[in-house]
Amino acid sequence: MSTPLADGASETLGDWVRRAANAMDSAGLHFGHGTAAAIDEACWMAAHVLDLPPDFDNDRFDLTPTAEQRARLASLLEQRIETRRPLAYLIGEAWFAGLRFRVTDDTLVPRSPLGELVVGGLLPWLDLNRPLRVLEVGTGSGCIAAALAWYWPALEIEAVDISEAALAVAADNLRRLGVADRVRLSCSDVYDALGDVRYDLVVSNPPYVPEASMRALPDEYRHEPVGALVAGADGLAIVRRLIAGAADHLAPGGFLLVEVGEAAEAAEHLLADSEAIWLDFEHGGDGVFLLDRAGALAVDTARAVESIPAGDHDED
Ligand SMILES: C[S@@+](CC[C@H](N)C(=O)[O-])C[C@H]1O[C@@H](n2cnc3c(N)ncnc32)[C@H](O)[C@@H]1O
Repeated sequence: MSTPLADGASETLGDWVRRAANAMDSAGLHFGHGTAAAIDEACWMAAHVLDLPPDFDNDRFDLTPTAEQRARLASLLEQRIETRRPLAYLIGEAWFAGLRFRVTDDTLVPRSPLGELVVGGLLPWLDLNRPLRVLEVGTGSGCIAAALAWYWPALEIEAVDISEAALAVAADNLRRLGVADRVRLSCSDVYDALGDVRYDLVVSNPPYVPEASMRALPDEYRHEPVGALVAGADGLAIVRRLIAGAADHLAPGGFLLVEVGEAAEAAEHLLADSEAIWLDFEHGGDGVFLLDRAGALAVDTARAVESIPAGDHDED
């Protein structure tokens, strides 16, 4: 692209961030992969290139990037606009629960509202300071399992995914965060490869986009692994299996914690008889339910629910 973004040597970081945000807004980009607005995405690019913390102080906006930094900023902005690839893939990393994760095209970009619970805990339902057994189904980059291990040293954690490629990235992230000895990774189709261990917490951010909704999603989502997003006609194919197997995998007093995002309306129909608890979030996000063993047994997972088309494109 011959750039309308050509950069002046005296431009401050703040000026660049504003100009980049305007360019991204004008190009009609979608923001939903770690940021919610162009200005936040421009700040993330700036933080990455200038090696600043993601929540860098306002006085950093007065910095004047070097020629090399200006070239890298311009290149990132150009790639983001031209390819519609989420920024996390362009820079190979994303932040989740205050921790840095490597991401590749084989992993979903971490952004689950479950991050708030991972940091804040699950009281009054579960005390994560206790040596509880935790299973994460669909670990992707490993962000949820790794962050749980990081924040809650007493937990015994197991994490599975059906994608070997994603598991390789998860293993790398566990190593980088120094928690590789705290999380057991394995390949499994939901619960299929697991033994008879009972868990106090089964947590999952499974794929939950209805097949027909995929077409309506912005281009950014087409860069993510389809198997991390799509789950059957009503989006609940994996959620049904998580619930159906919960009674066999939960310990007494244990809980299933599942993000269903845009499929929440359909999931509410499925869970109508179960007394599922729908959780509130301080930092945004919804569509997360908590279900105990009795609740899981009360669900007729074969019940058909109407597929609800994706609305505001915040899937997953
Ligand atoms: C929405 S992504 C979540 C990734 C990560 N936990 C996160 O929150 O960023 C769903 C993950 O589930 C995995 N997955 C899809 N179908 C699965 C299955 N049948 N069994 C296990 N994992 C599955 C995908 O490979 C993907 O990594």
